[in-house]
Amino acid sequence: MLMKGALENVLDAIGDTPIIKLQSVASHVDSEIYVKLEAMNPGGSVKERIGKYILEKAIERGELKPGGTIIEGTSGNTGVGLAMFAAVHGYKCIFVLADKQSKEKIDNLRAFGAKVIVCPTNVPAEDPKSYYSVSAGLAKTIPNSYFVSQYDNPFNAETHYYTTAPEIYAQTGGEFDAFVAGVGTGGTISGCGKYFKEKMPEVRIVGVDIEGSILAHYHKTGEVCEAKPYVLEGIGEDILPDNVHFDIIDEFVMTADKESFLMTRKLLTDEGLYVGGSCGAAVVGAIRYAEGLKTPQRILTLLPDSGNRYASKIFNDDWMRDNGYLDSSFNVMIKDVLETLGKGQEKLQTIDDTATVREAIAALKKYSISQLPVYHADALVGVVSENQLLRPVFEGDLDLGETISVALQNNYRVIDANHMLNEVTDALLREDIVIVTAGDDIVDILTNSDILNFVSQKQTYGKRRAARS
Ligand SMILES: Cc1ncc(COP(=O)(O)O)c(C=O)c1O
Repeated sequence: MLMKGALENVLDAIGDTPIIKLQSVASHVDSEIYVKLEAMNPGGSVKERIGKYILEKAIERGELKPGGTIIEGTSGNTGVGLAMFAAVHGYKCIFVLADKQSKEKIDNLRAFGAKVIVCPTNVPAEDPKSYYSVSAGLAKTIPNSYFVSQYDNPFNAETHYYTTAPEIYAQTGGEFDAFVAGVGTGGTISGCGKYFKEKMPEVRIVGVDIEGSILAHYHKTGEVCEAKPYVLEGIGEDILPDNVHFDIIDEFVMTADKESFLMTRKLLTDEGLYVGGSCGAAVVGAIRYAEGLKTPQRILTLLPDSGNRYASKIFNDDWMRDNGYLDSSFNVMIKDVLETLGKGQEKLQTIDDTATVREAIAALKKYSISQLPVYHADALVGVVSENQLLRPVFEGDLDLGETISVALQNNYRVIDANHMLNEVTDALLREDIVIVTAGDDIVDILTNSDILNFVSQKQTYGKRRAARS
């Protein structure tokens, strides 16, 4: 007999995930937003529910036989759900993934002992190299195999109709006005949506789609548009899966990669929720839906997975910055930097290359500046700076009567004030001098210390503004 308090196996730990009220990321809307935290499943995602349910059905119907091979094209989470079932009940697994999936997901599946085949992302579904085609093809050639096919297997949506939705209904007593969920295969929204509409005819079922996917556009127009690449994993499609029951979905809200990733990070820093990118998208979608309401509602959204699988991407500053998802202090026009610093008002002092070192030092002193652009006739030929003159003059290597052309520095970049600061990030990091022009005139020089000054002024201003609001 099973010990008191214990479960028979890990599959029995799937489900019964908590629902949590968002405290701060949606504080500007009057509606209340609640999240169902599917990361609390033993493998970290909602997809364990379908892995278990679909395979139990397949065994019941004699489609998956002892020692058989489970095959699926999966973005990873479904793979974990299936692999977990296979581990407990002794089946083999082959998973086919698109190459945009995170390394963590691929490693995780291989760690379960599954065979993982990686296919190119940006090919149409009907291309023989696509992960849809490859997984379907394998299922035809491998004997005693079961192709899960989560896009069109009706047991996917049925899983949510018989497990996720009744669980939510029992937890909440149906005390919510809208259910918001990201749509990938469609299983979650179609299964939950059907159940909720039967129990609560007034409930709004809201799908979340991502820019580049074809689903929301199809729902609105009945037309299949061209899919465009996007980076978010888990939601959006370039096909119309049978499991998306468009008639159950009342409306779609759109999200985009950057805002979804930034919200994912905010869910961790501001709410303590370590969840994946499609969760950020779901919350952005729920807030967008709330912003469009005339009277406040209780909104429940499902957060499909854990943040663990995105450590090298969404939670990695370098990846976020390299892909342009992190707003940086350098995304600003140079003229705005000068304005903030109170610089660039007048034409900058320059000096001719025939001047002596003594004259250059006198000019630096007279105008209380640290660098002087040096001209030959009308052309800028270099810069002299206090720092660079000091040591050779002190050590006697440079005579005060010599012309400054022997002491010129050429570690400078010239840039117009209408350009962005991020164009000279590299130069500043190398401690080069940045000469700012407006038309033909040199208006100022920017150095690393100016940038530090600018960043600290901006942050102080930002904090003051936050303190006021
Ligand atoms: C991380 C993640 N979020 C959301 C979804 C979408 O859920 P569904 O396929 O039930 O529409 C998926 C499905 O693959 C997913 O893996």
